[in-house]
Amino acid sequence: MKVLVTGGCGFIGSHLVDNLLEKGHSVVVIDREETYRNGKTEYVKKDIVKDGIDGEFKGINTVFHLAADPYVKDSADVPERSFNDNVVGTFNVLEACRKNNVKRILFTSTSTVYGEAEVIPTPENYPCKPISNYGASKLADEAYVSSYAHTYGIKGTVLRLANIFGERSTHGVMYDFYNKLKKNSRELEILGDGKQEKSYLHVSDTVDAIMDVWKKQEKIYDVYNVGSSGKITVNELAEIMCREMEIEPEFRHTGGKVGWVGDVRLMLLECNKLKRLGWKEKVGLEEGIKKYIDWIL
Ligand SMILES: NC(=O)c1ccc[n+]([C@@H]2O[C@H](COP(=O)([O-])OP(=O)(O)OC[C@H]3O[C@@H](n4cnc5c(N)ncnc54)[C@H](O)[C@@H]3O)[C@@H](O)[C@H]2O)c1
Repeated sequence: MKVLVTGGCGFIGSHLVDNLLEKGHSVVVIDREETYRNGKTEYVKKDIVKDGIDGEFKGINTVFHLAADPYVKDSADVPERSFNDNVVGTFNVLEACRKNNVKRILFTSTSTVYGEAEVIPTPENYPCKPISNYGASKLADEAYVSSYAHTYGIKGTVLRLANIFGERSTHGVMYDFYNKLKKNSRELEILGDGKQEKSYLHVSDTVDAIMDVWKKQEKIYDVYNVGSSGKITVNELAEIMCREMEIEPEFRHTGGKVGWVGDVRLMLLECNKLKRLGWKEKVGLEEGIKKYIDWIL
């Protein structure tokens, strides 16, 4: 099958591309960076906001739309970046689907659309009240995926991802800790009080979830949470990382209940809907962190 992955040279996208190729699909990748470019794909170096992308969608069966500005923290400082890459970018991708008669799209959204949820674990039908510009941009995208599904019959999937980690990740708390510890292994700065509790899912389980939903979703439009069954505190995460790296730094907290503007104190997604499709989390947190540290070292 001929499929297209936007953001296919990024962290999650590149793992998805590898999996699609292993399963025998023919893969077109659109990405403005070549970070993890797989030579077996048809690679198109384009920006989904600035460059015309309609031609690339001809003859495509399914679009996996992952290209985005994924930085929650930066979305407070430079709001137009997440608006352009995420909202305008997604609109352009959906338009390219419509014009080329592509009838299937899967879109990676985020747990941040829920904002500060009071029900934990949070189910998909919980009201979305994002508290970051990044979360707001992704919620706008979700609305468009829904409207294009119902208006033009483009079967749409929204995957609300928890914190995803693993090999090739170059953003997020684990990467931040690693870089700080590389500079100074005697002290680790932790943003907030370190008691923020969140769900972390390994990238291979994330790709399995995307592939399962692709094959098994029945409705014209549906939303799935994708996360781990457990949550841990940022302090516990730092302890596991230090153990794996065989170092014992002092922890220094910047203070406050959250790490940055738009950060949440608590995040755990209820993933029963995904599990009912047969998906299971396979990589435990400690095992996943070990794999990540081995890769990064
Ligand atoms: N990593 C996580 O923890 C996480 C959590 C929730 C949701 N997500 C979502 O999953 C998707 C992938 O995230 P990731 O962590 O792999 O990020 P990433 O930054 O590693 O990958 C994103 C890719 O998209 C490309 N891209 C961005 N804007 C583009 C544009 N305008 N035109 C062309 N290419 C563009 C980038 O060059 C990059 O290669 C994103 O949609 C993100 O919002 C990620």
